[in-house]
Amino acid sequence: MAFIDIAKQRCSIRNYAAKKVEPEKLEQILEAAHVAPTAANLQPVRLIVVQSEEGLSKIGKAANIYGAPLAIIVCADHDKAWVRPFDNKQTGDIDASILTDHMMLEATELGLGSVWICYFKPDVIRKEFDLPNNLEPVNILAIGYSNEKSSDSERHSKMRIVMDELIYQSF
Ligand SMILES: Cc1cc2nc3c(=O)[nH]c(=O)nc-3n(C[C@H](O)[C@H](O)[C@H](O)COP(=O)(O)O)c2cc1C
Repeated sequence: MAFIDIAKQRCSIRNYAAKKVEPEKLEQILEAAHVAPTAANLQPVRLIVVQSEEGLSKIGKAANIYGAPLAIIVCADHDKAWVRPFDNKQTGDIDASILTDHMMLEATELGLGSVWICYFKPDVIRKEFDLPNNLEPVNILAIGYSNEKSSDSERHSKMRIVMDELIYQSF
């Protein structure tokens, strides 16, 4: 499928079937994360792959993952992330989000639903998964087979700002 078709087909899924994600599909999703770019190729990113009942119930203390059978916690390693010298902006969150987006779109291509989650209690994730101080949980990507009816891939003309607003300036 062409990239633009995958991007248009993807939508947030908040109702999942109990069916597990096959190991080979998980492997492909993780490979999409592995090849993602990061600032200066420092790769300041660590993933926590959660599929077990125990792990999912730990996540459940911090976030609603809508019954997804698989969740990937994407962490930024603040000890490794690149820092822009002019204003000290660190790119750990950006790097973590690029990996998340790669995985989300790969999941779409594999026929899986997903939802990107930032509404979670980071302190609870830290405690439940025993994270060291340098690792910050930035995103949770919930993945599984959708129980929702497929959405209109042309919905973006109504659900996104118009192109003229998106393009702030064009020189
Ligand atoms: C950075 C980010 C954080 C998000 N956090 C949540 C969240 O915590 N819970 C949730 O249900 N959806 C979350 N979403 C999904 C957005 O609400 C959703 O992408 C947006 O409404 C557009 O809808 P669509 O994904 O179906 O195109 C998040 C998306 C992004 C990109």
